[in-house]
Amino acid sequence: DPILPPDLSQCDPTGATTTSGGQTVSLDVDCCPPYTDIQSDYKLPSFTTPRPSGGGSSSEMQNLEFGGESAGTDTDEDVVITGNQEEGGATSSQHTQNTGEQESPRMRDLDVTDPDDPRGFTQQANIHCAYCNGPYDQPDHPGLDLQVHNSWLFFPFHRWYLYFFERILGSLIDDPTFAIPYWNWDNPRGMFMPEMFTFPGTPAYDANRDPSHIPTGTNPVVTLNVGSTVTDPVQIISNNLTQMYNEMIGTPASATDFMGQPYRDGDAPHGFSGGGTSEQGSHTAIHVWVGDPNNEYNEDMGNFYSAGRDPLFYCHHANVDRMWTLWKDIPADYSKEITDPDFLKSAFMFYDKNKNLVRVTVADALDYKRMGYEYEPSNTPWMNYRP
Ligand code: C2O
Repeated sequence: DPILPPDLSQCDPTGATTTSGGQTVSLDVDCCPPYTDIQSDYKLPSFTTPRPSGGGSSSEMQNLEFGGESAGTDTDEDVVITGNQEEGGATSSQHTQNTGEQESPRMRDLDVTDPDDPRGFTQQANIHCAYCNGPYDQPDHPGLDLQVHNSWLFFPFHRWYLYFFERILGSLIDDPTFAIPYWNWDNPRGMFMPEMFTFPGTPAYDANRDPSHIPTGTNPVVTLNVGSTVTDPVQIISNNLTQMYNEMIGTPASATDFMGQPYRDGDAPHGFSGGGTSEQGSHTAIHVWVGDPNNEYNEDMGNFYSAGRDPLFYCHHANVDRMWTLWKDIPADYSKEITDPDFLKSAFMFYDKNKNLVRVTVADALDYKRMGYEYEPSNTPWMNYRP
């Protein structure tokens, strides 16, 4: 049977744990979402023109606002959202350029003004903790943690997570065309921490990062190989392209090799080996690379419970999601589809931009275009990097 969505009334505020030195240790963090007993099935609005997500450290990055600054001045006026019930039932609304004059509460401001608002930045970060550090049990399986990593739920869960994060942020800055830019760490030009995240005092900054990996640090080139100790930048980049080729093309021999292993109702979490090639590889490597090794649990990016506190998380995962879309289009001698109903019917709960609790399914996350996504093309030199 499919993994059922968590029961919010059963979330354990003291249930968050992590592993440390092979032991399970309790975390002093309550990451349960605000409770309501009103919920509904989410209906995807129909998008006629997708919101394009830009790559790299281009000007699109400047769109990223978590609070404090004026709203988008470089929005794409060509974006049309049609028949979006969330937009107040409008059948067609041409986006008009936002002047930035309207005041709206930003994500980080909500942390202060209304900590129980599910749209706040900390509440959004806690979603990751709730689904990954064990405060939820699987429904009808007390004591059995719900874990969306290390399995075939990895890509669909994170796509939905970014989807709601993006629409909440777009609504808070009055820019419905807002799209999370992707950090294109698979392209040598993107293999460093994007500069706009690195200015103390700005909304995209996070102090909890490895100081040697900031652009002015001693080892600023990203490694996509978990635990690599190579320091020569040229060698790192070459290894990164090899890693990308392997995890996207060379290694997977089935859809679950790439996506992650089956994970069904009643299954115990698999552990690291249940993850797909991309999750285990470049995805995890970036988390480890960004997190601060001087912090007890490698916060922020280096632990599930704290990863969402770093704005870089969302741009990292935009690129992870892009990898899913690229992989699907690469010809292979196996099917890229998983048709198992246990996969398709697995479901999650999220708060939408109107603070309504909604239930979403894996099936509805499989077609990124239906969700209004599009990724601007960027070079993918790894595609021809067969070792
Ligand atoms: Cu939910 Cu990048 O991890």
